[in-house]
Amino acid sequence: MLFSKGLLKDPRSIRSLTVAAQKSVTASGVSACLLLCLASPPALAQMAEDVFKNVQVLKGVPADQFMTTMGVFSAALGMSCEDCHAANDSKWENYALDNSPRKQVARRMVRMMTDINKNYFGGRQNVTCYSCHRGSDRPRVTASLAAVYGGSPEEDEDDIVRQAPDAPPAGQLFDKYFQAIGGTARLAQLTSFVAKGTSSGYGPESEKRPLEIYAKAPNQRTTIIHTDNGDSTTTFDGRAAWIAAPLRPIPVLPLTAGELYGARLDAELAFPGRIQQAFGQWRVGRPVVINDRKAQVAQGVSADGAAMATFYFDADSSLLVRFIRYASSPVGRAATQYDYSDYREVAGVKVPFHWTMTWLDGRENVELSEIGPNVAIDPARFAKPAPPAPPKN
Ligand code: HEC
Ligand code: HEC
Repeated sequence: MLFSKGLLKDPRSIRSLTVAAQKSVTASGVSACLLLCLASPPALAQMAEDVFKNVQVLKGVPADQFMTTMGVFSAALGMSCEDCHAANDSKWENYALDNSPRKQVARRMVRMMTDINKNYFGGRQNVTCYSCHRGSDRPRVTASLAAVYGGSPEEDEDDIVRQAPDAPPAGQLFDKYFQAIGGTARLAQLTSFVAKGTSSGYGPESEKRPLEIYAKAPNQRTTIIHTDNGDSTTTFDGRAAWIAAPLRPIPVLPLTAGELYGARLDAELAFPGRIQQAFGQWRVGRPVVINDRKAQVAQGVSADGAAMATFYFDADSSLLVRFIRYASSPVGRAATQYDYSDYREVAGVKVPFHWTMTWLDGRENVELSEIGPNVAIDPARFAKPAPPAPPKN
């Protein structure tokens, strides 16, 4: 089988995950749901081969993870969807056609990559599309003299943070952060909010679109963006998560594994008081520079090892300035990055009113105009969203 090490491939591994999570709960005395729900509802998962028509190699992967692999392909090769698919967004059937030779090559590459990892790295995901391709269609064959002598050392930082010998414990960074945003007592008193603002994409989608966020402690959250093509809704109900968006192959996409974890983290971060407990293990790295300012770095790995996130705190203000979460896919990790700014006080708690969200195939700029704290929110707001209604005009 191709993805013998794939995390959520068969029910047995799901069960062992749950057991592992349970063990770590008793071990650390952490509140039950936080960890347990992460390994939960496999029943929701729709497998790629059940949803799509022509899946030959990426089988046994939930549909949301399948779409993540498409994002990883595009990013790793510096391609857009159309480079392998002769299709556009309005005709999803066309994506099943095999009329691009590149799509065939890509299937062979998935097999090759899986074999390399299996045969030489004990099944660990050490080699991915990105390892060779580095954002181009043809991997380089010859070492570049310019790189050796001219030195373009601005290689990205590795996404795995290495524990620095003299670093403070992660708990200390979080304590300072909680203090900076108002203290744990005030944090505990903020239990819900409704936010309004705008969201704008980049390029052709740079127009500002109205946005609403509904959030309820400890971890329910719904974000709605009113786009010209209909509403785009992301919901985490405390257990399960969905994305309902127009112009997508699956109108209401249930999130699983790393993507579900990501939705949970986004929801937890609205009320960050217990965010540290969402991870089983922490590493604190050397400080880095973000926007010319020094930042402390803490990286958490989930109890089941399936998900990872990195937190960057401004070294002076202790505010959270960047948050990157990673979801795994059969062909490489996919990062989603938030850059926060414009912290303002809401019911005594400092909350970012501006952030940029960047992921493999998109970027979004969110500006909030108002936040109403501690308001009653209809529970239906956190229910599974309906498929997006077509635009009104
Ligand atoms: C490098 C080539 C490549 C790129 C770039 C790529 N894909 Fe794919 N895509 C594939 C391959 C290969 C398959 C079939 C996978 C299999 O057989 O398991 C596929 C299958 C699909 C399918 C399933 C169609 C069906 O019904 O069988 C969808 C939907 C899809 N891709 C969407 C996308 C989107 C959206 C993007 C851009 C974000 C994208 N792809 C970018 C190679 C690519
Ligand atoms: C071990 C290195 C390596 C890995 C890993 C790798 N590739 Fe490749 N890939 C290559 C090389 C080398 C070529 C160029 C082959 C040639 O020119 O004949 C290539 C070519 C391609 C092409 C054809 C590009 C074109 O424009 O004709 C596609 C598509 C592709 N790879 C997709 C992928 C995908 C998707 C993955 C991850 C599943 C991947 N590759 C992983 C080495 C790799």
